[in-house]
Formats: sequence, C-alpha cells, structure tokens
Amino acid sequence: MFEAIERKGTGCSKWDNLEAKFGVDGILPLWVADMDLAAPKVAQDAIIKRASHPVYAYSMYTDKFYQGIIDWYDSRFGWKIDREWIVPEHGVVISLNLSIEAFTNPNDGIIVQTPIYPPFLSSVENHGRRVLENRLVFKDGQTSIDFDDFEAKAKEAKLFLLCSPHNPSSRAWTREELEQMLTICHKHSVVVIADEIHSDLVFGSSHTPIGSLPQAKEITLTLHAPSKTFNIAGLNTSYLIIPNAKLREAYSTEHKKAGLDSGNPFGIVALEAVYDGGEEWLEALKVHLVKNSKYISSFIKEKIPEIIVYKHQATFLMWLDCRGLGLDDKELSEFFIHKAGLGLNAGISFGEAGSGFMRLNIGTSIDILEKAMNQLESAIKVVRK
Ligand SMILES: Cc1ncc(COP(=O)(O)O)c(C=O)c1O
Repeated sequence: MFEAIERKGTGCSKWDNLEAKFGVDGILPLWVADMDLAAPKVAQDAIIKRASHPVYAYSMYTDKFYQGIIDWYDSRFGWKIDREWIVPEHGVVISLNLSIEAFTNPNDGIIVQTPIYPPFLSSVENHGRRVLENRLVFKDGQTSIDFDDFEAKAKEAKLFLLCSPHNPSSRAWTREELEQMLTICHKHSVVVIADEIHSDLVFGSSHTPIGSLPQAKEITLTLHAPSKTFNIAGLNTSYLIIPNAKLREAYSTEHKKAGLDSGNPFGIVALEAVYDGGEEWLEALKVHLVKNSKYISSFIKEKIPEIIVYKHQATFLMWLDCRGLGLDDKELSEFFIHKAGLGLNAGISFGEAGSGFMRLNIGTSIDILEKAMNQLESAIKVVRK
C-alpha cells in the first residue's frame, strides 16, 4: 500500500529540483517535508470528481468543510470546537506571517524554539521583529526545553511561535510541557501561535492541542491542515482555530487585507474527503512510518554508531545527531551529498542550534530507505579508514 511513487517529471520540489537545491543531480532526495506516497483514494476520487466539472473558479468553504474539521478535532483529540472559531486559510506559513502582522509591531520580540522549520525565523525577521531564541537542549538522544530561558524570553515577548510536534526534532511535547509553556505565556501576556501541522502523526502517545488546555482559549491560535497527514500539501488549504473573538477579528483583518478569501476548490473537496473517510488510511500510514523509523534506528545503531538517532516521536522526519563524525557543518553537508549521494536537510539550515545534525525524511518506501542506509554506511566506511 505504501510504495514510493515515481515523482520525477511531475514538477515536484523533492525530486525535480535537486540540482538547484544540492548542486548535483542523481542523489537520493530525503529532504522537503512531503511524502513519496500516494494520497488516500478518497482524496484522489474527490479531486477527480471535482475536476470533471470544468469550472475552476472562485470557491467558498462549504458546511462539510467546517463540519469535517469539527468532527476531526472531536474524534482525534477530544477537543470540541465551535464553527465560528474556524478561519480557513491557504497555508500554515501564511498564517505565521499574518499573525505577526496582526499581533505585533516592528521590533517586538517573538519567541522561537530553535532549531526550527525555517519560515518561523524568516517570518519574524522579514517583518522587522526580533527573534527571541529559546534553544532546545539536545543531550544523549533526548530533546528538552530550557524553561528558565523560556520564561526570561517571555518577559520581553509579544508572541510565541510554537511548533507542536516539533520540526525538525520530531519531538512530541507532553501535556505537562505544554501546560508549563502556556502558564508562562499567560503570566506574561504572550499570545501563542501553535503550528500543529504535524499533529496527526504522533507515535506512542497522544497529541494534546495546546488550545484545548485550560487557560489557552484567550491567548491561543491553532494552525492545522490535512496537508502533511494526507500528503496533499500542494493544494494549499489549511485553517486556524481561534476561540477568542478579538484575536480572530485581528487575524481575519490581515487575512482580508491580503486578499485570501476565496478557497482552492480541490483543497476544499480533498479536506472534506479525508476528514470524512481517511482515518483508516492514516492509521495504516502510521504503522508504515513506525516500521520505517524502527528500521533506520536499528540500522544506524548497529552499523553507524558515530550517529545518534533521536527517538522518533512524531512527523515523518527523523533527527540525526552527526556530531560524532567530527565534521563541521559544511563538511557534513558535503559528505552527505557528495560521498553518500543523499539529499537530507542540514541541521544548520534550521538555525545555529541545529549545528551538527541532519534531518531525514522517512515518508517513502522501505526500499528507498534501505538504499539510502547502504549508501550512507559505505560512505562512512571510507571516512573511517
Ligand atoms: C512545522 C511546519 N509548518 C508549516 C509547514 C508548511 O505549511 P504550509 O505548506 O501549509 O504553508 C511545514 C512544512 O514543512 C512545517 O513543517
């Protein structure tokens, strides 16, 4: 069921853009956060049906769209949300940018937990706001939060851009950690923008939407989409959950100013379809990803002990501590590209705090991962000599 699809020639970022991204063609791409796997049949059918109607003009968000989101949150996370809290959007990164416009002024401080998905940093910097960096702590294969530093930063912050679960570390924050962050934000009147785009892919524990916690309603915006979960990111359809009417109004004003009102007709029907009939596929996908991550962890542990694999808790991304290879960041990237023939994301591209790490995308077939691991092992053997 989860075979890698041939994607070359479809204009896809992952396979068709290697030369521009890595400076060489022909390497195995394991980078950008989408999967080589077909979207669920229910999504394909809904898109084909919609495409068979030949007018692809301005589209509105349907009752089924809103109800799908309400039911998804209720059944998957036990969070009962009201329809009026939902604001449809064209992408989570757009929401990060519009939130910064809506809730901060130039030079205001915004907390970001680094290393982080790069638009978290660029959205702050591009708007002339200050990044207040709360560096995550990576020690012995464990990721943790420095709460003293977080509170110090919260004292001078207006906004906190939370990534939950966290990309690139694949860390799923516990309820206690989320409560602690929320309490601090509440105390210092910091608005929380929670990017939970990876929250359907959490393994071994259940995801707690921070917005569902007591104290959260007044200060939290939750950003989500079916895009990562069902591999439909190209449809540019996401949404926010904003219980506080004032925050919702402020966000919606920026959204309207940007001219983003009309929806993507294919994104709308795909969301309706996957939230209605995609759960079985999702559960099977999770089994596949767990199998992939177990394979990677045990291969590297056994054959490449210089690399420490962080526990894969969420997402289809894995976080590899390569500091044991003794290479600087440039050498590390070049080693992966030119010696191992692999296109991963360099940890340093997620900020200084990612130095010495690499991010591996396991949203593919086991065959491709086996090929990748064999290439990596052979390259390491040469370095060891
Ligand atoms: C944490 C996170 N947020 C947002 C995005 C992108 O979201 P969108 O395509 O909806 O802008 C990604 C994609 O990798 C991501 O990892």
